[in-house]
Amino acid sequence: MNDSATNNETPILQGDDLRKTYRLGRVEVPVLHGASISVKEGEWVAILGSSGSGKSTLLHILAGLDRPDLDSGDVRYRGAKVELQDGGKTNHYRNKTIGFVFQFYHLLPELDVLENGMLSNLVPRGKGSGIVIFMMAIIGGFLGAWLGGMAAGDWGLLPLEERTPVRSVVLSGACAIIGSGVMIALSQIAQAIILRTRMRSGEAADLARSTLKDFGLAERYRHRPRELSGGERQRVAIGRALGSSPDLLLADEPTGNLDEQTGTAILELLKEKHQKGLTIVMVTHDPKVASYADRVVRLRNGRVLEED
Ligand SMILES: Nc1ncnc2c1ncn2[C@@H]1O[C@H](COP(=O)(O)OP(=O)(O)OP(=O)(O)O)[C@@H](O)[C@H]1O
Ligand SMILES: [Mg+2]
Repeated sequence: MNDSATNNETPILQGDDLRKTYRLGRVEVPVLHGASISVKEGEWVAILGSSGSGKSTLLHILAGLDRPDLDSGDVRYRGAKVELQDGGKTNHYRNKTIGFVFQFYHLLPELDVLENGMLSNLVPRGKGSGIVIFMMAIIGGFLGAWLGGMAAGDWGLLPLEERTPVRSVVLSGACAIIGSGVMIALSQIAQAIILRTRMRSGEAADLARSTLKDFGLAERYRHRPRELSGGERQRVAIGRALGSSPDLLLADEPTGNLDEQTGTAILELLKEKHQKGLTIVMVTHDPKVASYADRVVRLRNGRVLEED
């Protein structure tokens, strides 16, 4: 992305003439017919629309999570085109530049609250990990072969009269394979433990802790998603989206599955972040929720219309 294209007038996010048709075998489901939207820095925009009108589809395309049709227009972040047809190039935009709250949370059940909260900041596995595993497999293989040889020979696993060179080699070979397997498994377990320990003590963890604390989840770091209420899960999802301190949050029905009181609490949290400068694009079907936004647009017939 090219920051030189940025100036104060440039919208932080722009979607121009976005088109999307889902194809299921021969059936075509046209959803977006040239939807355009422009969001200024520091704005809170709500996208209203009935169920099935394409709100999630539009938000996913704006977030680089889904591709529009090939004849579609484009998405621009601070004036620079987001390469939506190239998954690799959109990775940084998706993971670091924006925060995204999914309609149904999408928390990872095996990770606890803290780990879920820091997902957007996770450092990918070190490049050296493949080499370490390969080396461990070789060492395990040699060790296994040596043990197999010893077992067949000095330790007398194969009685002298049954001992042939072929049998000894087969036994050594089998032990080499088992040895490699054991060492690969051990090195993977060790790497997972080291990664987890490093993760939880690093800068990303501190950032996630402070965001989750702001969201009232300081007592819940070790809980798994299944041990949380719906409102708590939604707060983790928003905390995760804000974990990399993005300046743009895209939220798909952030209060859609919650009771009114919990929903209001979450909207108040978003309001607080918005007042500190966060730009928000929020999808909802609820006009009451939309009233939190500075501006409301409506998605109808695959296009975005300004609401009075
Ligand atoms: N992966 C898909 N394959 C085929 N059709 C899809 C797919 N995803 C969505 N659709 C269809 O596209 C249309 C728009 O879906 P979308 O999820 O964007 O609607 P929505 O406005 O977010 O609805 P809701 O308010 O119920 O969440 C729907 O008719 C849906 O059935
Ligand atoms: Mg939706």
